[in-house]
Amino acid sequence: MTDKAILTIDGKSVDLPIMKGTTGPDVIDVRKLYADTDRFTFDPGFTSTASCESKITFIDGDAGILLHRGYPIEQLAEKSSFLEVCYLLLHGELPTAAEFETFEHNITYHTMLHAQFDRFFEGFRRDAHPMAVMTGAVGALSAFYKDSIDVDDPVQRQISAHRLIAKMPTIAARAFKYTTGQPFISPRNNLSYSENFLRMCFAVPAEDWKSNPVLTRAMDRIFILHADHEQNASTSTVRLAGSSGAHPFACIAAGIACLWGPSHGGANQEALEMLEQIGTVENIPAYVQGVKDRKYKLMGFGHRVYKNFDPRAKVMQKTCHEVLDALKIDDPLLHVAMELEKIALSDPYFIDRKLYPNIDFYSGITLRAMGFPASMFTVLFALARTVGWISQWKEMFEDPARKIGRPRQLYTGATQRDFIGIDKRG
Ligand code: CMC
Repeated sequence: MTDKAILTIDGKSVDLPIMKGTTGPDVIDVRKLYADTDRFTFDPGFTSTASCESKITFIDGDAGILLHRGYPIEQLAEKSSFLEVCYLLLHGELPTAAEFETFEHNITYHTMLHAQFDRFFEGFRRDAHPMAVMTGAVGALSAFYKDSIDVDDPVQRQISAHRLIAKMPTIAARAFKYTTGQPFISPRNNLSYSENFLRMCFAVPAEDWKSNPVLTRAMDRIFILHADHEQNASTSTVRLAGSSGAHPFACIAAGIACLWGPSHGGANQEALEMLEQIGTVENIPAYVQGVKDRKYKLMGFGHRVYKNFDPRAKVMQKTCHEVLDALKIDDPLLHVAMELEKIALSDPYFIDRKLYPNIDFYSGITLRAMGFPASMFTVLFALARTVGWISQWKEMFEDPARKIGRPRQLYTGATQRDFIGIDKRG
């Protein structure tokens, strides 16, 4: 294998070094290209561009492989816990028992919010989308926790990371409670991360709340499945925002804003709404025809990187069945989803385009069965992805090659011209 690519422009040859990772495609290092050739590369949508070096997550989209720090997502979902995966993503290795105990304590004892913070929610309309509330509330954290926003101090970075992982469930549960008009439920430090979150969402002061181990485990697994996903749009947003030295809480708020889009995290809400719209198995062929006629997309299908299958979707589908069985729910939408998947996977339109169900296809049915309204689905995604965002943000600061992100452009607008006064414009 060569260790350089040669590019010839105007008869001049330029050597471009080839960099090798531990696995996955090599990359052509074009950093000196502009200086050497006066040309930029052009890659809107980053379909062929690696924006950074990372040791956190690896995806082989053709083989349907997702690894966090080398560990397959299926094994983590089966054998690990969300907090352990948080430690793994942040620190690079699975924790020892003692390390985990300290980490769990650090997270658990940061779950409360500043009392003044609760008043912040009242500024929102009750019918605001909880993702709008999340974007605002998380951005406001930098106003409340000013002692951990010096991005050049590794200790403060660590405190910020812990605060975010710890407080996100409390904020997310409050965003939910606020829309329902129910009182906020304070965190309980003796409960596990996921159990505490479910309690903050579903307990009411008038009644005792009983946890359901199947639902707690399902919540934890759903968090694991969403924890990180390489340099996706929201993670790249967090890195780009962070590259200027912006406060960590502001960067995560930027990530949340990006995640909300229907092509990204917003797809879980849209996928469920699509299944509701289809309603019955008989309506599937007409709906699929509409997709082929390009009237709309099949939400929860397709992925920029996975061109075989999304390994998270397989675990999600299993979790969906477990939850519905445990709750003895026979959801007609599950039948619609399974039939839609079958029809789409045997149709040349989807086969030719390598479109497979992604994580969002079955998550909506599962979360709905657990009691969440569709508007909360993307919030749960944001909660879980926070650890991925902050791990990637932290890694960026630890990289000596860090530079402010500053893409260039192919300019196709007007060339220089003289200003004409309004009285002379015809
Ligand atoms: N339904 C129908 N056709 C599709 C779909 C879909 N869901 N996704 C892609 N296509 C078609 C697209 O029209 C194009 O066809 P053609 O070549 O004939 O023009 C072809 O497949 C390639 O699509 P693309 O738009 O170039 O692919 P992309 O890599 O830019 O988009 C995607 C990836 C995820 C944005 C897209 O597949 C999509 O919009 N899916 C639906 C939304 C969704 O489920 N998003 C969640 C992604 S997983 C969770 C996450 O990471 O946030």
